[in-house]
Amino acid sequence: MPASHRGILIPLTLAAPLPERVRRSSLADQDLSVVNARLESRVEALEAARENLDDLLNAAGIPILALDMNLNIRWFTPAIEALIELTPSDIGQPAAGFARKFDDARFLDDARAVLQGHPPLEQEVQGEGNRWYMRRTVPIHTRDGYASGLVTTFVDTTRRHEAFDELHRILEAAPDPTVVIDISGRIERANAELLRVFGYSAKELIGRPVETLMPERFRRKHRTNVRGFFASPQARPMGEGLTLFAITKDGREFPIDVKLSPTHIDEHFVTIGAIRDITKQKGLEDRLHGNQRILERRVAERTVELQRLQTELHRAMRLAELGELTTGIAHEITQPLTAIRSYMEACQTLLAMDDFASAKDLGRKALDQARRAIDIIQNIRAMAVATENRRSAQDINGLVNDATLLMIAGARDRQIEMELSPAPGLPLVVADRVQIQQVLLNVLRNAIDSVSEVSRRRIMVETRRGNDSMVEIAVVDTGPGVPAEIAQRLFQPFVTTKAGGMGIGLSLSRSIIEAHDGRLTFANRHSGGTEFIIALPPAETG
Ligand SMILES: Nc1ncnc2c1ncn2[C@@H]1O[C@H](COP(=O)(O)OP(=O)(O)O)[C@@H](O)[C@H]1O
Ligand SMILES: [Mg+2]
Repeated sequence: MPASHRGILIPLTLAAPLPERVRRSSLADQDLSVVNARLESRVEALEAARENLDDLLNAAGIPILALDMNLNIRWFTPAIEALIELTPSDIGQPAAGFARKFDDARFLDDARAVLQGHPPLEQEVQGEGNRWYMRRTVPIHTRDGYASGLVTTFVDTTRRHEAFDELHRILEAAPDPTVVIDISGRIERANAELLRVFGYSAKELIGRPVETLMPERFRRKHRTNVRGFFASPQARPMGEGLTLFAITKDGREFPIDVKLSPTHIDEHFVTIGAIRDITKQKGLEDRLHGNQRILERRVAERTVELQRLQTELHRAMRLAELGELTTGIAHEITQPLTAIRSYMEACQTLLAMDDFASAKDLGRKALDQARRAIDIIQNIRAMAVATENRRSAQDINGLVNDATLLMIAGARDRQIEMELSPAPGLPLVVADRVQIQQVLLNVLRNAIDSVSEVSRRRIMVETRRGNDSMVEIAVVDTGPGVPAEIAQRLFQPFVTTKAGGMGIGLSLSRSIIEAHDGRLTFANRHSGGTEFIIALPPAETG
């Protein structure tokens, strides 16, 4: 056997015998020698080709075993020795008879199946020294299409195996359920934690689409997302900003975070998906939200409580004011009463002296003082009424109209021009009609008093919508304005600049307006005169 044939035994039926036959032929003419020469050169070419093929197969170091239709050994490459104990003398012997060094119970069954027309079969097998091979069995056919045997190649996949072993170790070390999916989105591997959490066996899960782990309603969308992901794979969290859900084999759903890491494992492209159950985190979030709601409710409760306290404080302050007021009233009433007593004592003396004219004069003075006392008492009664509730929705323009009507006659007598400027479409206000009219009359009376001191006497009453949507009544006069020395105390009881004034009007008015959640304010105008503004909240609609 030529040296180049060592180990690779491909029987060539065309080989040595042909040129001899040709030479031995009785037709030894020129033509034949030409044919002969041609054939010889073809044989040489074939020899050379076979040598090349031998060299190639030797150099590749790939274990290859060729069997014939009876599963007898036809040829093999030297590398096959790593897997089967064979020597060149074994050619023609049944493949079943040789000691195999690899662990593969299906080897001959697969060979038979392929011979019977099954497409090529692959099987990963383990050989000596912890090496792995992909055993691939393919049929070979004659030119006219008949099966003539098969070739089994063993491609060393040890490195890939090691890589996968490494991956496996990483997967198993991962604390979270983790899957490896291939580029078609099928589950290639799953760690024990994933199987435990989802309740599947590896057999049930491997090869299934990764959507198996998701609730039905997310699956279709996810399939398109997977395609997008593999178009430009990048490590990223899945479904950013969304709450993702997983579903276990027995239908339990739970919220998850998924981190995707595309990677190559020995030429093989996969994506590793680490799945984290965030039920607890979600629970915390929900609890946090719950706590926030509780806090908000407490704040609201406290606010109500504070408002109640504030109202109480207000009332207490008003009571204190009332105390002050009572002292003031006592003082105010004592004055006319003392005067009346003095007048009546003097009156008695004068009557005893038959001085009827003087007695009559003192009697009139006593009567004036009595009237003053009654005035004071009436104002106090009005203040007591302010705490009673007789409120209803009021049309402010109508109310203003009624109140001014009462004043117009008196104003005309004093040559005062009164103008009314009602705004249309104002909302109603909820108010005690009599009380608001009383306030308006107080303010108007003050305005009349103020313009009486000047020559240009004009009072304008305007209704309007305030900036803060309050309904306002403004009373503008052309008087001298509020004196600076009382501007700060204007609304305190018994503050007056008038000779016969009691200084109760504005104090009482403010109490009434504030009891209506409104405001009573004033401002001196640049053009001279004063503007008093009664602001009331509009009735709530709906
Ligand atoms: N329109 C006004 N222009 C100028 N001063 C005013 C006006 N309204 C009220 N005042 C001042 O406020 C004081 C208090 O008014 P009020 O409480 O009504 O008491 P009284 O009218 O009895 O004085 C008045 O004495 C006056 O000095
Ligand atoms: Mg007054």
